Amino acid sequence: MQEIKFYSGENIPLELHKVRVVQKLNLVPIERRLEALYEAGFNTFKLTTKDVFLDMLTDSGTNAMSDNQMAAMMQADDAYAGSQSFFRLEKAVQDVLGKKYLLPVHQGRAAENIISVAYVRKGSLVPMNYHFTTAMAHITDKGGQIAELLYDEAYVINSDHPFKGNMNIEKLEEVINYHGPKNIPFIRMEASTNLIGGQPFSVQNLRDVRAIADKYGIRLILDGSLLGENAFLVLQREEEFKDSDMKTVIHTMTSLADLCYFSARKLSSSRGGGICTDSLEIFRELEAFIPLYEGFLTYGGMSIREVEAMAVGLYETLDETMISQSPSFIKYLVDALDAKGIPVIKPAGVLGAHVDAMQVCAHIPQSQYPAGSLAAALFLISGVRGMERGSISNQRDEYGNETYADMELLRLAVPRRVFTLSQIKYVEDRLNWLYDNRELIGGLKFVYEPPVLRFFMGGLKPIDDWPQKMMAKFKEDFSDSL
Ligand SMILES: Cc1ncc(COP(=O)(O)O)c(C=O)c1O
Repeated sequence: MQEIKFYSGENIPLELHKVRVVQKLNLVPIERRLEALYEAGFNTFKLTTKDVFLDMLTDSGTNAMSDNQMAAMMQADDAYAGSQSFFRLEKAVQDVLGKKYLLPVHQGRAAENIISVAYVRKGSLVPMNYHFTTAMAHITDKGGQIAELLYDEAYVINSDHPFKGNMNIEKLEEVINYHGPKNIPFIRMEASTNLIGGQPFSVQNLRDVRAIADKYGIRLILDGSLLGENAFLVLQREEEFKDSDMKTVIHTMTSLADLCYFSARKLSSSRGGGICTDSLEIFRELEAFIPLYEGFLTYGGMSIREVEAMAVGLYETLDETMISQSPSFIKYLVDALDAKGIPVIKPAGVLGAHVDAMQVCAHIPQSQYPAGSLAAALFLISGVRGMERGSISNQRDEYGNETYADMELLRLAVPRRVFTLSQIKYVEDRLNWLYDNRELIGGLKFVYEPPVLRFFMGGLKPIDDWPQKMMAKFKEDFSDSL
């Protein structure tokens, strides 16, 4: 992709889109932000947007839609069965993802449910580069287990490894031999591995995984929710593809998988999701579950408007100008934080910037959830809502014990084409202040803990009055500033 250089020599990611619809934001006073935290049980998922200034919780369903996506929504062919909108989407999947058959679902986890219902049994083991919360919950819900097989480098915060999402090939073969191929319904590869900082895998690694899958006769399933960004980083970082294009890389990756599923909330800046394959056998194995769990096969639980927006959004995924916007803003933020000595996952990945709470909050034990504490503290002092991606996001083991996360991260999502650079600079500035005052951040404890996916609706409280002390220091430093 052509880089735009500034005469000043400054490295600034220039926006190649213009803003035509805007939404007003509120930055409420810190006193209100403190109240809101208590109301939300110190869980940023439970904050309401009226109290949030910059919503960096996720990119899921929050990427900005294009004018062409909005326009396409107006031509929705509303029909329960046989809608022309579905055939436009099917064509987009064939063109962009290179797969013949499409099963529509209402979002990514619905695909995970259907795949798990169809293939996972008690005693099954699913090897994967790394888990995603909902993927793991659906597998364990059906009696299966997972094995995470990254290389050690993936867990190094300050790294320059270009493909930290690569699957450890040697370990994969060991695990298959140990458990037996018949107990392994599929291998799961997640593009731009979400929970370790949006880190990609290389096409070569996927080829190696494919070779092992073939050797043992095991299906290879690709979670393509962040496939566009992974493909973009392959163009940037994998020698073989340096003169290639998005479509070639995406097709090369999807052609290596037996089945690809995705959250369209991410992949196509719309809503919805899908499962696609070239295999009629796999299509038939999954087909009946769509009307059972989702809706008829030509809408799969989505509104037809979403189906139209998704089709256009899929084509737009191939546009390097569009797909590079979020990674380039993330890189800008990561570089700025890194320059100030704030520990942040490197190299910059996709989806968001990921601050290492294990280091920032080294004084908080994992039993008091450092990443959750950091997320709450940042919201308190800035109105910026990030997401805890650490032990709160983990589930307890079968005996009810905590399973502490490999990494304690505060994820600051940068949805596509949503924020301006001055907003990113505000985040940088407030994180700087927080880092300088990190000793004031205290731990959290659960007061309400749901048994499944506890991070969504769980309620916590601070272990003491650290939020009040932090507010006092903020007011001392910023006087009457919001
Ligand atoms: C890698 C990955 N897989 C699956 C999902 C689940 O998708 P959804 O939120 O649409 O259910 C997500 C959502 O964030 C994701 O990031």
